[in-house]
Amino acid sequence: MTIISFMTTKGGGGKTTSALLTATILAEQGARVCVFDADPNQPIVEWAETANKPEKLTVIGDVTEENIQELIETHEQTAQFVIIDLEGSANLTAAYAMAVSDAILVPLQGSKLDAKEAIKTISFIKRQEKNQRRILPTRVFWARMPPAYITKAARELAAQFEGAGIQFMNTRLIEREAFKGIVNFGQTLSTLTNADVPGLDKARENAMTFVAELIDLLKRDPT
Ligand SMILES: Nc1ncnc2c1ncn2[C@@H]1O[C@H](COP(=O)(O)OP(=O)(O)OP(=O)(O)O)[C@@H](O)[C@H]1O
Ligand SMILES: [Mg+2]
Repeated sequence: MTIISFMTTKGGGGKTTSALLTATILAEQGARVCVFDADPNQPIVEWAETANKPEKLTVIGDVTEENIQELIETHEQTAQFVIIDLEGSANLTAAYAMAVSDAILVPLQGSKLDAKEAIKTISFIKRQEKNQRRILPTRVFWARMPPAYITKAARELAAQFEGAGIQFMNTRLIEREAFKGIVNFGQTLSTLTNADVPGLDKARENAMTFVAELIDLLKRDPT
């Protein structure tokens, strides 16, 4: 079983969107995927209640610091991937999830995540690394980028992560209506239609490239 956590201390950073994209794509490719919704607001549980959910995707709600370790033990028997959507906070649930993750993905929004939040997220990762006495398999990625350029603010944020030795994924998730649409319309990228959102083909291609890079990364040692 492979465990992937989406973590940043910044609220609204793109965790849920990218976790859901990754989970639905993997499930539609035939993998048995289990999503842990560890956000008290339960956005993925809510999505799953009415969504056109892939058959191989299971959503586990109410994941907390009290039960996350036990839930992982239970689901590692059956799931090929456990995708954990964390709350935007440096809490114990995140620490437990990070401790067992094969990849920790940190979404970054160039204009929205201010320098203070970037420092908080980096410092949380570094504290977990000290605690576990190992380098964690972390990657930062741009989660909501304009298609054509990287802003000065974004370059400065990137420099902070790189300065802390945290690498970036090559693929950026672009700002797309289709990525919002999976939540708004209760769909996946393959069940959305051109009548629902513009730019669907480009969004699909972008998300597939992201997941392919992630799978490739997991085959190597992401630390
Ligand atoms: N690539 C994208 N294109 C368009 N909209 C996006 C993209 N990524 C995220 N968003 C939008 O940005 C908002 C915040 O994203 P999301 O809910 O995924 O962040 P989050 O980190 O899970 O937030 P929270 O900390 O509240 O859990 C949502 O409205 C979502 O639709
Ligand atoms: Mg969220």
